[in-house]
Amino acid sequence: STVRTSPTPTSADLADSAFLRACRGEPVPHTPVWFMRQAGRSLPEYRALREGTPMLESCTRPEQVVEITMQPVRRYGVDAAIFYSDIMVPLKAIGVDLDIVPGVGPVVAEPMRSLADLAPLRPIEPGDVPYVTESVRGLTAELGGTPLIGFAGAPFTLASYLVEGGPSKDHAATKALMYGRPEVWHELLGRLARIAAGFLRIQVEAGASAVQLFDSWAGSLAPDDYDRFVRPHSEAVLAEVGTLGVPRIHFGVGTGELLGAMAAAGADVVGVDWRVPLAAGIDRVDGRPVQGNLDPSLVFAPWEIVAEKAADILTAGQKAPGHIFNLGHGVLPKTDPDVLARLVDFVHTESARG
Ligand code: CP3
Repeated sequence: STVRTSPTPTSADLADSAFLRACRGEPVPHTPVWFMRQAGRSLPEYRALREGTPMLESCTRPEQVVEITMQPVRRYGVDAAIFYSDIMVPLKAIGVDLDIVPGVGPVVAEPMRSLADLAPLRPIEPGDVPYVTESVRGLTAELGGTPLIGFAGAPFTLASYLVEGGPSKDHAATKALMYGRPEVWHELLGRLARIAAGFLRIQVEAGASAVQLFDSWAGSLAPDDYDRFVRPHSEAVLAEVGTLGVPRIHFGVGTGELLGAMAAAGADVVGVDWRVPLAAGIDRVDGRPVQGNLDPSLVFAPWEIVAEKAADILTAGQKAPGHIFNLGHGVLPKTDPDVLARLVDFVHTESARG
Protein backbone atom coordinates (compact mmCIF):
# COMPACT_ATOMS: atom_id res chain seq x y z
CA SER A 1 0.00 0.00 0.00
CA THR A 2 1.11 3.57 -0.60
CA VAL A 3 1.77 6.05 2.14
CA ARG A 4 0.46 9.51 1.33
CA THR A 5 2.61 12.35 2.51
CA SER A 6 0.00 14.94 1.58
CA PRO A 7 -3.76 14.67 1.28
CA THR A 8 -5.21 14.15 -2.19
CA PRO A 9 -6.46 17.51 -3.48
CA THR A 10 -10.22 17.70 -3.73
CA SER A 11 -12.55 19.87 -5.77
CA ALA A 12 -12.87 22.06 -2.68
CA ASP A 13 -9.08 22.72 -2.79
CA LEU A 14 -9.43 23.63 -6.44
CA ALA A 15 -12.31 26.06 -5.90
CA ASP A 16 -10.34 27.53 -3.01
CA SER A 17 -7.10 27.94 -5.01
CA ALA A 18 -5.45 31.37 -4.94
CA PHE A 19 -5.93 31.70 -8.70
CA LEU A 20 -9.70 31.09 -8.69
CA ARG A 21 -10.15 33.19 -5.54
CA ALA A 22 -8.37 36.11 -7.24
CA CYS A 23 -10.53 35.67 -10.36
CA ARG A 24 -13.60 36.03 -8.13
CA GLY A 25 -12.15 39.04 -6.30
CA GLU A 26 -11.83 37.19 -2.96
CA PRO A 27 -8.96 37.55 -0.45
CA VAL A 28 -5.91 35.36 -1.18
CA PRO A 29 -3.05 33.98 0.94
CA HIS A 30 -0.61 35.12 -1.78
CA THR A 31 -0.92 36.72 -5.21
CA PRO A 32 -1.33 33.91 -7.74
CA VAL A 33 1.03 33.86 -10.72
CA TRP A 34 1.25 32.11 -14.09
CA PHE A 35 2.83 33.11 -17.41
CA MET A 36 1.29 33.37 -20.84
CA ARG A 37 3.28 30.97 -23.07
CA GLN A 38 4.75 29.28 -20.00
CA ALA A 39 4.60 26.00 -21.92
CA GLY A 40 6.87 26.20 -24.91
CA ARG A 41 10.16 27.10 -26.45
CA SER A 42 11.83 28.65 -23.41
CA LEU A 43 11.88 25.19 -21.78
CA PRO A 44 14.58 22.70 -22.86
CA GLU A 45 12.29 19.83 -21.79
CA TYR A 46 9.66 21.17 -24.21
CA ARG A 47 12.11 21.39 -27.10
CA ALA A 48 13.27 17.84 -26.38
CA LEU A 49 9.73 16.46 -26.32
CA ARG A 50 8.61 18.35 -29.46
CA GLU A 51 11.69 17.29 -31.47
CA GLY A 52 10.46 15.87 -34.78
CA THR A 53 6.76 16.51 -34.15
CA PRO A 54 5.07 19.44 -35.93
CA MET A 55 3.32 21.87 -33.56
CA LEU A 56 -0.23 21.13 -34.67
CA GLU A 57 0.36 17.40 -34.61
CA SER A 58 1.67 17.59 -31.03
CA CYS A 59 -1.65 19.20 -30.07
CA THR A 60 -3.52 16.07 -31.18
CA ARG A 61 -1.48 13.70 -28.95
CA PRO A 62 -2.91 13.69 -25.43
CA GLU A 63 0.24 12.20 -23.89
CA GLN A 64 2.33 15.09 -25.27
CA VAL A 65 -0.32 17.70 -24.44
CA VAL A 66 -0.49 16.55 -20.82
CA GLU A 67 3.28 16.42 -20.44
CA ILE A 68 3.93 19.82 -22.08
CA THR A 69 1.17 21.47 -20.02
CA MET A 70 2.63 19.99 -16.81
CA GLN A 71 6.26 20.97 -17.50
CA PRO A 72 6.02 24.61 -16.35
CA VAL A 73 3.76 23.67 -13.43
CA ARG A 74 6.43 21.33 -12.08
CA ARG A 75 9.37 23.58 -12.84
CA TYR A 76 7.94 26.90 -11.64
CA GLY A 77 5.22 26.05 -9.13
CA VAL A 78 2.85 28.45 -10.92
CA ASP A 79 -0.70 28.78 -9.58
CA ALA A 80 -2.38 27.71 -12.82
CA ALA A 81 -1.70 25.58 -15.88
CA ILE A 82 -2.55 26.76 -19.40
CA PHE A 83 -3.73 24.10 -21.80
CA TYR A 84 -1.10 23.30 -24.43
CA SER A 85 -2.83 23.88 -27.74
CA ASP A 86 -3.13 26.82 -30.14
CA ILE A 87 -5.77 29.34 -31.17
CA MET A 88 -5.63 27.80 -34.69
CA VAL A 89 -6.40 24.24 -33.51
CA PRO A 90 -10.24 24.50 -33.74
CA LEU A 91 -9.99 25.96 -37.26
CA LYS A 92 -7.69 23.16 -38.39
CA ALA A 93 -10.03 20.65 -36.75
CA ILE A 94 -13.04 21.77 -38.80
CA GLY A 95 -11.04 21.52 -42.01
CA VAL A 96 -9.40 24.90 -42.68
CA ASP A 97 -6.14 24.29 -44.53
CA LEU A 98 -3.51 25.89 -42.30
CA ASP A 99 -0.22 25.19 -40.59
CA ILE A 100 1.99 26.71 -37.93
CA VAL A 101 5.35 27.42 -39.50
CA PRO A 102 8.26 27.52 -37.01
CA GLY A 103 9.56 31.05 -36.55
CA VAL A 104 6.71 32.49 -38.62
CA GLY A 105 3.40 31.58 -37.01
CA PRO A 106 0.03 30.50 -38.41
CA VAL A 107 -0.15 30.34 -42.22
CA VAL A 108 -3.49 29.83 -43.99
CA ALA A 109 -3.42 28.24 -47.48
CA GLU A 110 -6.44 30.11 -48.88
CA PRO A 111 -7.05 33.51 -47.28
CA MET A 112 -10.76 34.27 -46.71
CA ARG A 113 -12.10 37.44 -48.31
CA SER A 114 -15.57 36.65 -49.70
CA LEU A 115 -18.76 35.02 -48.45
CA ALA A 116 -17.99 31.90 -50.50
CA ASP A 117 -14.59 31.62 -48.77
CA LEU A 118 -16.33 31.25 -45.40
CA ALA A 119 -17.93 27.87 -46.24
CA PRO A 120 -15.46 25.81 -44.11
CA LEU A 121 -16.30 27.84 -40.99
CA ARG A 122 -18.95 25.64 -39.39
CA PRO A 123 -19.57 25.23 -35.63
CA ILE A 124 -17.14 22.91 -33.82
CA GLU A 125 -18.36 19.77 -32.04
CA PRO A 126 -16.61 17.67 -29.37
CA GLY A 127 -16.24 14.93 -31.99
CA ASP A 128 -13.99 17.22 -34.06
CA VAL A 129 -11.41 17.39 -31.24
CA PRO A 130 -11.58 14.15 -29.22
CA TYR A 131 -7.91 14.70 -28.28
CA VAL A 132 -8.83 17.97 -26.55
CA THR A 133 -11.41 16.30 -24.32
CA GLU A 134 -9.06 13.41 -23.56
CA SER A 135 -6.13 15.77 -22.80
CA VAL A 136 -8.16 18.05 -20.53
CA ARG A 137 -9.53 15.06 -18.60
CA GLY A 138 -6.05 13.64 -18.15
CA LEU A 139 -4.75 17.01 -17.04
CA THR A 140 -7.42 17.77 -14.47
CA ALA A 141 -6.76 14.36 -12.92
CA GLU A 142 -3.03 15.06 -12.74
CA LEU A 143 -3.32 18.72 -11.67
CA GLY A 144 -5.52 18.04 -8.64
CA GLY A 145 -5.89 21.35 -6.80
CA THR A 146 -4.13 23.41 -9.50
CA PRO A 147 -6.58 25.05 -11.93
CA LEU A 148 -6.37 24.47 -15.69
CA ILE A 149 -7.03 27.48 -17.92
CA GLY A 150 -8.69 26.70 -21.25
CA PHE A 151 -8.41 29.25 -24.04
CA ALA A 152 -9.48 30.36 -27.49
CA GLY A 153 -8.60 33.09 -29.95
CA ALA A 154 -11.15 35.88 -30.10
CA PRO A 155 -12.96 36.50 -33.39
CA PHE A 156 -10.83 39.48 -34.49
CA THR A 157 -7.49 37.78 -33.84
CA LEU A 158 -8.60 34.59 -35.62
CA ALA A 159 -9.98 36.68 -38.50
CA SER A 160 -6.68 38.49 -38.90
CA TYR A 161 -4.90 35.19 -39.66
CA LEU A 162 -7.68 33.95 -41.95
CA VAL A 163 -7.93 37.18 -43.96
CA GLU A 164 -4.20 38.00 -44.15
CA GLY A 165 -3.21 34.38 -44.74
CA GLY A 166 -0.56 34.70 -42.04
CA PRO A 167 0.90 37.02 -39.42
CA SER A 168 0.65 40.74 -40.13
CA LYS A 169 1.95 43.91 -38.49
CA ASP A 170 -0.64 46.36 -39.82
CA HIS A 171 -3.64 44.06 -40.46
CA ALA A 172 -4.29 46.05 -43.63
CA ALA A 173 -6.18 43.34 -45.54
CA THR A 174 -8.24 42.58 -42.43
CA LYS A 175 -9.24 46.22 -42.06
CA ALA A 176 -9.92 46.53 -45.80
CA LEU A 177 -12.48 43.74 -45.48
CA MET A 178 -13.88 45.21 -42.26
CA TYR A 179 -14.51 48.65 -43.80
CA GLY A 180 -15.12 47.62 -47.39
CA ARG A 181 -17.37 44.60 -47.02
CA PRO A 182 -19.05 44.84 -43.63
CA GLU A 183 -21.59 42.13 -44.49
CA VAL A 184 -18.79 39.61 -45.17
CA TRP A 185 -16.95 40.86 -42.08
CA HIS A 186 -19.85 40.34 -39.69
CA GLU A 187 -20.63 36.92 -41.16
CA LEU A 188 -16.95 35.96 -40.70
CA LEU A 189 -16.75 37.19 -37.12
CA GLY A 190 -20.13 35.68 -36.24
CA ARG A 191 -18.93 32.28 -37.40
CA LEU A 192 -15.62 32.65 -35.56
CA ALA A 193 -17.49 33.62 -32.39
CA ARG A 194 -19.45 30.35 -32.52
CA ILE A 195 -16.24 28.39 -33.08
CA ALA A 196 -14.40 30.14 -30.22
CA ALA A 197 -17.33 29.63 -27.84
CA GLY A 198 -17.61 25.98 -28.89
CA PHE A 199 -13.89 25.37 -28.35
CA LEU A 200 -14.07 26.94 -24.88
CA ARG A 201 -17.19 24.95 -24.00
CA ILE A 202 -15.47 21.68 -24.94
CA GLN A 203 -12.53 22.51 -22.63
CA VAL A 204 -14.76 23.57 -19.72
CA GLU A 205 -17.05 20.56 -20.05
CA ALA A 206 -13.95 18.32 -19.92
CA GLY A 207 -12.78 20.01 -16.70
CA ALA A 208 -11.04 23.37 -17.32
CA SER A 209 -11.56 25.73 -14.34
CA ALA A 210 -11.26 29.08 -16.14
CA VAL A 211 -10.93 30.38 -19.68
CA GLN A 212 -8.88 33.06 -21.37
CA LEU A 213 -10.10 34.68 -24.57
CA PHE A 214 -7.02 35.97 -26.44
CA ASP A 215 -7.73 38.99 -28.62
CA SER A 216 -4.00 39.42 -29.10
CA TRP A 217 -4.18 41.83 -32.05
CA ALA A 218 -7.27 43.90 -31.09
CA GLY A 219 -4.88 46.67 -30.01
CA SER A 220 -4.46 47.58 -33.68
CA LEU A 221 -8.02 48.98 -33.67
CA ALA A 222 -9.27 52.44 -32.74
CA PRO A 223 -11.91 52.27 -29.99
CA ASP A 224 -14.91 53.20 -32.17
CA ASP A 225 -14.00 50.55 -34.75
CA TYR A 226 -13.50 48.01 -31.98
CA ASP A 227 -16.96 48.81 -30.62
CA ARG A 228 -18.64 48.61 -34.00
CA PHE A 229 -16.87 45.75 -35.76
CA VAL A 230 -15.43 43.51 -33.04
CA ARG A 231 -16.92 43.94 -29.59
CA PRO A 232 -20.38 42.47 -30.37
CA HIS A 233 -18.72 39.25 -31.51
CA SER A 234 -16.39 38.95 -28.50
CA GLU A 235 -19.42 39.71 -26.35
CA ALA A 236 -21.26 36.75 -27.92
CA VAL A 237 -18.36 34.42 -27.06
CA LEU A 238 -18.10 35.62 -23.46
CA ALA A 239 -21.88 35.52 -22.97
CA GLU A 240 -22.07 31.90 -24.07
CA VAL A 241 -19.15 30.92 -21.85
CA GLY A 242 -20.75 32.86 -18.99
CA THR A 243 -23.42 30.17 -18.77
CA LEU A 244 -20.73 27.61 -17.82
CA GLY A 245 -19.87 29.20 -14.48
CA VAL A 246 -16.10 29.57 -14.84
CA PRO A 247 -14.14 32.87 -14.72
CA ARG A 248 -13.51 34.51 -18.09
CA ILE A 249 -10.18 36.33 -18.61
CA HIS A 250 -9.97 38.64 -21.63
CA PHE A 251 -6.58 39.81 -22.92
CA GLY A 252 -5.02 41.66 -25.82
CA VAL A 253 -1.75 43.43 -26.61
CA GLY A 254 -1.58 47.23 -26.91
CA THR A 255 -5.13 47.57 -25.64
CA GLY A 256 -4.67 50.53 -23.29
CA GLU A 257 -7.48 52.45 -25.00
CA LEU A 258 -9.71 49.36 -25.21
CA LEU A 259 -9.55 48.05 -21.64
CA GLY A 260 -12.93 49.49 -20.66
CA ALA A 261 -14.61 48.08 -23.76
CA MET A 262 -12.96 44.68 -23.33
CA ALA A 263 -14.12 44.57 -19.71
CA ALA A 264 -17.66 45.55 -20.69
CA ALA A 265 -17.69 42.85 -23.38
CA GLY A 266 -18.19 40.37 -20.54
CA ALA A 267 -14.83 39.72 -18.90
CA ASP A 268 -14.58 38.70 -15.26
CA VAL A 269 -10.83 39.44 -15.30
CA VAL A 270 -9.04 41.79 -17.68
CA GLY A 271 -5.48 41.15 -18.85
CA VAL A 272 -3.31 44.28 -19.03
CA ASP A 273 -0.19 44.51 -21.18
CA TRP A 274 3.01 46.17 -19.96
CA ARG A 275 2.50 49.48 -21.78
CA VAL A 276 -0.23 50.47 -19.34
CA PRO A 277 0.75 51.14 -15.71
CA LEU A 278 -1.22 48.52 -13.79
CA ALA A 279 -2.81 51.17 -11.54
CA ALA A 280 -4.15 52.96 -14.66
CA GLY A 281 -5.39 49.66 -16.07
CA ILE A 282 -7.26 48.96 -12.84
CA ASP A 283 -9.01 52.33 -13.14
CA ARG A 284 -10.26 51.43 -16.62
CA VAL A 285 -11.93 48.08 -15.96
CA ASP A 286 -14.86 49.07 -13.77
CA GLY A 287 -13.94 47.30 -10.55
CA ARG A 288 -12.90 44.00 -12.05
CA PRO A 289 -9.88 41.86 -11.09
CA VAL A 290 -6.87 42.27 -13.37
CA GLN A 291 -4.04 40.11 -14.69
CA GLY A 292 -0.54 41.29 -15.58
CA ASN A 293 1.73 42.96 -16.41
CA LEU A 294 5.54 42.66 -16.29
CA ASP A 295 7.28 43.47 -19.60
CA PRO A 296 8.33 40.05 -21.02
CA SER A 297 11.70 41.60 -21.99
CA LEU A 298 12.36 42.73 -18.45
CA VAL A 299 13.42 39.24 -17.37
CA PHE A 300 16.68 39.84 -19.27
CA ALA A 301 17.56 42.73 -16.91
CA PRO A 302 19.60 42.29 -13.70
CA TRP A 303 17.58 40.51 -10.99
CA GLU A 304 17.37 43.63 -8.74
CA ILE A 305 15.48 45.45 -11.53
CA VAL A 306 13.17 42.50 -12.10
CA ALA A 307 12.39 42.33 -8.38
CA GLU A 308 11.81 46.08 -8.13
CA LYS A 309 9.37 46.09 -11.07
CA ALA A 310 7.58 42.99 -9.81
CA ALA A 311 7.21 44.57 -6.35
CA ASP A 312 5.73 47.73 -7.95
CA ILE A 313 3.22 45.60 -9.86
CA LEU A 314 2.23 43.74 -6.68
CA THR A 315 1.70 47.04 -4.88
CA ALA A 316 -0.43 48.42 -7.72
CA GLY A 317 -2.39 45.16 -7.85
CA GLN A 318 -3.56 45.63 -4.27
CA LYS A 319 -5.91 48.37 -5.52
CA ALA A 320 -7.89 45.85 -7.58
CA PRO A 321 -10.44 43.44 -6.07
CA GLY A 322 -8.21 40.66 -7.39
CA HIS A 323 -4.79 40.52 -9.03
CA ILE A 324 -3.22 37.65 -10.93
CA PHE A 325 0.48 38.28 -11.59
CA ASN A 326 1.59 37.57 -15.16
CA LEU A 327 3.76 38.98 -17.89
CA GLY A 328 2.26 41.66 -20.14
CA HIS A 329 2.44 39.17 -23.06
CA GLY A 330 3.92 35.74 -23.67
CA VAL A 331 7.25 34.37 -22.42
CA LEU A 332 9.92 35.14 -25.03
CA PRO A 333 11.68 32.04 -26.44
CA LYS A 334 15.14 33.04 -25.09
CA THR A 335 13.91 33.57 -21.53
CA ASP A 336 16.00 31.88 -18.83
CA PRO A 337 13.64 29.48 -17.01
CA ASP A 338 15.58 30.05 -13.75
CA VAL A 339 14.55 33.72 -13.76
CA LEU A 340 10.88 32.74 -14.09
CA ALA A 341 11.27 30.26 -11.23
CA ARG A 342 12.81 32.99 -9.08
CA LEU A 343 10.02 35.38 -10.08
CA VAL A 344 7.32 32.93 -8.98
CA ASP A 345 9.02 32.56 -5.58
CA PHE A 346 9.37 36.32 -5.29
CA VAL A 347 5.68 36.96 -6.08
CA HIS A 348 4.60 34.32 -3.58
CA THR A 349 6.79 35.44 -0.67
CA GLU A 350 6.53 39.18 -1.30
CA SER A 351 2.72 39.13 -1.59
CA ALA A 352 2.32 36.85 1.44
CA ARG A 353 4.25 39.36 3.58
CA GLY A 354 1.99 42.17 2.31
O1 CP3 B 1 1.93 28.15 -22.50
C1 CP3 B 1 1.12 28.37 -23.42
O2 CP3 B 1 0.56 29.48 -23.52
C2 CP3 B 1 0.87 27.22 -24.36
C3 CP3 B 1 -0.34 27.23 -25.18
C4 CP3 B 1 -0.44 28.27 -26.28
C5 CP3 B 1 0.23 28.23 -27.54
N1 CP3 B 1 -0.28 29.22 -28.33
C6 CP3 B 1 1.28 27.27 -27.94
C7 CP3 B 1 2.21 27.62 -29.04
C8 CP3 B 1 -1.32 29.36 -26.31
C9 CP3 B 1 -2.21 29.87 -25.21
C10 CP3 B 1 -1.21 29.93 -27.61
C11 CP3 B 1 -2.05 31.07 -28.04
C12 CP3 B 1 -1.75 31.76 -29.29
N2 CP3 B 1 -1.33 31.25 -30.48
C13 CP3 B 1 -1.97 33.15 -29.46
C14 CP3 B 1 -2.51 34.07 -28.41
C15 CP3 B 1 -1.47 34.38 -27.38
C16 CP3 B 1 -0.48 35.41 -27.79
O3 CP3 B 1 0.72 35.10 -27.74
O4 CP3 B 1 -0.88 36.53 -28.10
C17 CP3 B 1 -1.61 33.46 -30.78
C18 CP3 B 1 -1.65 34.83 -31.41
C19 CP3 B 1 -1.21 32.25 -31.42
C20 CP3 B 1 -0.77 32.05 -32.82
C21 CP3 B 1 0.62 31.52 -32.84
N3 CP3 B 1 0.96 30.18 -32.67
C22 CP3 B 1 1.83 32.24 -32.93
C23 CP3 B 1 1.95 33.73 -33.13
C24 CP3 B 1 2.89 31.32 -32.80
C25 CP3 B 1 4.38 31.59 -32.70
C26 CP3 B 1 5.07 31.51 -34.03
C27 CP3 B 1 6.58 31.50 -33.83
O5 CP3 B 1 7.17 30.45 -34.02
O6 CP3 B 1 7.12 32.56 -33.44
C28 CP3 B 1 2.31 30.05 -32.64
C29 CP3 B 1 3.05 28.78 -32.42
C30 CP3 B 1 3.02 28.26 -31.03
N4 CP3 B 1 1.89 28.16 -30.25
C31 CP3 B 1 4.11 27.76 -30.29
C32 CP3 B 1 3.62 27.34 -29.06
C33 CP3 B 1 4.38 26.66 -27.94
C34 CP3 B 1 5.55 27.66 -30.82
C35 CP3 B 1 5.64 26.42 -31.62
C36 CP3 B 1 7.08 25.97 -31.75
O7 CP3 B 1 7.54 25.22 -30.86
O8 CP3 B 1 7.73 26.35 -32.75
